[in-house]
Amino acid sequence: MFRDKFCGEIRESDLGSVIKISGWVLRRRDHGGLIFVDLRDRSGLVQVVFSPDVSQPSHKAAHDLRSEYVITVKGEVRRRPEGTDNPDLATGKVEIYAAELEIINESSVLPFPMEEAADASEQIRLKYRYLDLRRPELQKNLIIRHKTTKSVRDFLDSHGFIDIETPMLTKSTPEGARDYLVPSRLNPGYFFALPQSPQLFKQILMVSGLERYFQIVKCFRDEDLRADRQPEFTQIDLEMSFVDREDILALMESMVVKIFNDVMGLKIDTPFQRLAYKDAMERYGNDKPDLRFNLELVDVADIVRMSSFKVFLDAINSGGRVKAINAKGMAGISRKDIDMLTEDAKTFGAKGLAWIKVKSGFESPITKFFSAECLSDLAKRLGAEDGDMLLFVADSEKVVNDVLSRMRIDLGKKLNLIEPGFKFAWVLDFPLLQWDDEEKRFAAMHHPFTSPKDDDAAKMMSISVDDLASGSFSDDTKATLESFEAKAYDLVLNGYEVGGGSIRIFRNELQKRMFDLLGISEEEAKSKFGFLLEAFEYGAPPHGGIALGLDRLVMLMVGAQSIRDVIAFPKTQKAFCPLSGAPSAVDMKQLRELHIKSDQPIQSNP
Ligand code: AMO
Ligand code: AMP
Repeated sequence: MFRDKFCGEIRESDLGSVIKISGWVLRRRDHGGLIFVDLRDRSGLVQVVFSPDVSQPSHKAAHDLRSEYVITVKGEVRRRPEGTDNPDLATGKVEIYAAELEIINESSVLPFPMEEAADASEQIRLKYRYLDLRRPELQKNLIIRHKTTKSVRDFLDSHGFIDIETPMLTKSTPEGARDYLVPSRLNPGYFFALPQSPQLFKQILMVSGLERYFQIVKCFRDEDLRADRQPEFTQIDLEMSFVDREDILALMESMVVKIFNDVMGLKIDTPFQRLAYKDAMERYGNDKPDLRFNLELVDVADIVRMSSFKVFLDAINSGGRVKAINAKGMAGISRKDIDMLTEDAKTFGAKGLAWIKVKSGFESPITKFFSAECLSDLAKRLGAEDGDMLLFVADSEKVVNDVLSRMRIDLGKKLNLIEPGFKFAWVLDFPLLQWDDEEKRFAAMHHPFTSPKDDDAAKMMSISVDDLASGSFSDDTKATLESFEAKAYDLVLNGYEVGGGSIRIFRNELQKRMFDLLGISEEEAKSKFGFLLEAFEYGAPPHGGIALGLDRLVMLMVGAQSIRDVIAFPKTQKAFCPLSGAPSAVDMKQLRELHIKSDQPIQSNP
């Protein structure tokens, strides 16, 4: 018997009763006569008082208590004396007068004080993750994650989905990142790939007639890591047969509504806003816009074309773009601040940042290149009022969008434009294909199993095969291919892509044609995805699905800055686990058994 109640649950209704609790010593304060200990378990903390008047041996033993000792205490719940309530604590009106103390375990001196754990370096926190995870904030994150997956399971179960596991040791899947490979001892020289997603298997389950599949599943991608990316992460993955896009969007909207209601008691408004990919790029500069504020990107090429500002004219003449944003109320900023903004723009990839302050007239070193009419047209186009500042970037379309979309977010924060809350949106009408200028061929924008829209599918089938031989597209064909749109959809939340999916190709002739467009030869298609193509020979139903990034979703729900804060044992930016020391060297014997030779000197850690 270790406890009658959890520490954080003791209330005034317990006054007078004698209660046993167990947990960790957060802090001990020695006030000579009385010793105060904050005792913590998962539920919260409660103040324990050791008084020689109640128990001399306990009071004496309490002198030895140190941070993170594990103890059991038994004592009477009393009202805290007048004026000593702690309104920040759920247990802040009571305290326990210890009659018995048992020290169950001691703790070494901590690598960082528990109360300052959040400020310790991430490397240290991840090395001592078990201590880090004692922090209530991280425990709260994991509890919310648990509640989210529970809500998802309940929702999908009630909609007829069944949870089916798919293999972890499998073949390379087509999500476009690098694979994690696992050597096969029994088949020397051959490798499994850890799944980048269960994409092919979930489609095969549809061919099998399972109708509605889901899985909360680990996926592995060997890509460069960022705050919202981990090498192993979790998807809420699902697939359905006999559906179109609207079925999936509606289902996901009700799932999100249920999650936020179950987990946070919040009402999410539906239907979600919808944006065409093109409009998202045009107005926000990226395909995952934060729609909690406006500050839209505005095309001004037609106006500045009339100026004599060479920077703008050069960009336009070389096929680039000139876009601007209106930094509301920022006309007052100093030259130094402008220089800082310019530096930001340059770090984001711009060659420079042109600006015009609107201050009873126009103020800027570049106004001399513009006619009065030009300037007033610009002000009008951007809805500029006195006190605003216009920021311009001229460059290739990609650079202009990249830079201004990032400046938009930074300014949104700086100018306090971002409304709190959760703003979901669908980004739709993605291009089917994306031209890869380096490889001189098309790549699938989503993945090669995504269906084109019906009109485009018909056009796709009618393109002559000769015209498709990789790299030799006529300009007309290239333009046609670039105009094809996919039945794909991304779910966006507060500036993050939290999900993506599509209606799939389910007829082999269209699938084969898609491979033709992507320059994937019949042999390559057969060796990589042959099992799916073969399955499609035997009555594949129309189907589609989606995967939500669980880590990202929970990160946004709890307001964390990094997905590492919602994963119990995450990896660093270098895909290293400081706790376990993985990846690590292995024995020569293991390598020999796998028929693998390393050309790296073997050390214990990378
Ligand atoms: P996609 O590649 O868009 O689609 O992945 C789905 C969602 O998973 C999340 N995500 C990640 N989260 C953390 N770390 C990563 N490295 C990472 N990569 C992706 C994102 C993303 O929206 N098979 C398709 C789904 C389908 O078509 O049904 C797929 O995997 O939130
Ligand atoms: P310069 O002609 O280089 O003296 O630049 C004049 C102004 O234009 C400066 O404020 C630069 O930061 C800005 N500028 C330079 N290149 C670009 C660009 N590609 N897009 C927007 N502004 C630019």
